[in-house]
Amino acid sequence: MAQLNIPLEKFGSIRTPFYFYDVALLKETLSEVARLEKAHHFDVHYAVKANVNDRILEIINEAGLGADCVSGNEVSRVIGIGFPSEKVVFAGVGKTDREIETALSHNIFGFNCESIQEVQVINSIALNNNKRANVSIRINPNVDAKTHKHITTGLEENKFGINLTDLDAVLEVIKASKGIDFKGLHFHIGSQVTDMSRFLELCSRINDVSSLLEQKGIEVEHINAGGGLGIDYHDPHKNCIPNFAEYFNVFNKNLKLKPGQKLHFELGRAIVGQCGVLVSRVLYEKAGKKKNFLILDAGMSELMRPALYQAYHLIGNLTSKSMEQNEYDVVGPICETTDSFGQNILLPKSSRGDLFAIYSAGAYGQVLSNRYNLRDVPEVIYSDRI
Ligand code: LLP
Repeated sequence: MAQLNIPLEKFGSIRTPFYFYDVALLKETLSEVARLEKAHHFDVHYAVKANVNDRILEIINEAGLGADCVSGNEVSRVIGIGFPSEKVVFAGVGKTDREIETALSHNIFGFNCESIQEVQVINSIALNNNKRANVSIRINPNVDAKTHKHITTGLEENKFGINLTDLDAVLEVIKASKGIDFKGLHFHIGSQVTDMSRFLELCSRINDVSSLLEQKGIEVEHINAGGGLGIDYHDPHKNCIPNFAEYFNVFNKNLKLKPGQKLHFELGRAIVGQCGVLVSRVLYEKAGKKKNFLILDAGMSELMRPALYQAYHLIGNLTSKSMEQNEYDVVGPICETTDSFGQNILLPKSSRGDLFAIYSAGAYGQVLSNRYNLRDVPEVIYSDRI
């Protein structure tokens, strides 16, 4: 059984806060993805935005996954790491001309386009550079991911994708564009999606769009169903590897692929989320009038998700031996009231110097960290190099 291993005995001399990554767990997660990818003949691209550490990228590349990038710098980074260019996709709602040029210079697999104007710009940049660009269009499927509203992307009120009402117009532009080859359709409904019925609804929407193109006699080489598979933030120990089989099965059973058509995914959180832990120390205990506060040496500058999305992360005291349980607000040191990891959390009696783990921090943790208050950049520790 896969598990998250925390080598506490080796943490003593490391300056907190730091990010810890369980490499064995990451590799097991990847081998499960690679096994299913092969069995179903899917192509999985890792959504690089979730974690861009070189070491993590190297391990993901070794597992044979492709890369889904959302900036020119991400494209250059993954190419530098050694990802084959034919496995690199460039997505995002606001690609700059320079980023488009960068991606074209690397001869990547293709661009996922999000507006008619973007298609026109890619076409002219490709022609100016004597290149051709492979283009897929991102359709806004108007499917509610039923996740936090800040990480919902597939509704008509969201800025992402091209609405179906503009489908004919975008296809006309593509047809007239000599620097572009149309390759596929792209969809993404949102992130941290745990209700599989959302993906089921996405399948039926994809089938509709796909038939529409078939009626128009337009060949679709590949369909990209996006990412979004959620992880168990409440029990990262029990569910340290997400249920990829269940997720892929939804698509395998419900998507009507045409012969020769390839299905792509771009998963981020599900791949790297559970292998990362933010380790921090209690600086101070403070009994407030209504609350007992534990003030950690990590804050929203190291892990922003609770402040930004009211996200839940399991918090554990790694060192207390006390049998007494207390309720605490676990907060950071930053001068912001939202700098809190959790309220009214039941924990063993905790004291200054205790080591804390904030779990499930491998995705959108380190990448979103910043130096607000001119704080130090946290160290990064890998389980096999400690
Ligand atoms: N594809 C597209 C087009 C996306 O926008 C995203 C994530 C992904 C794939 C990967 O989604 P995943 O498999 O990781 O759910 N910072 C937020 C999450 C933002 C997700 C942005 N887009 C958080 O901390 O929850």
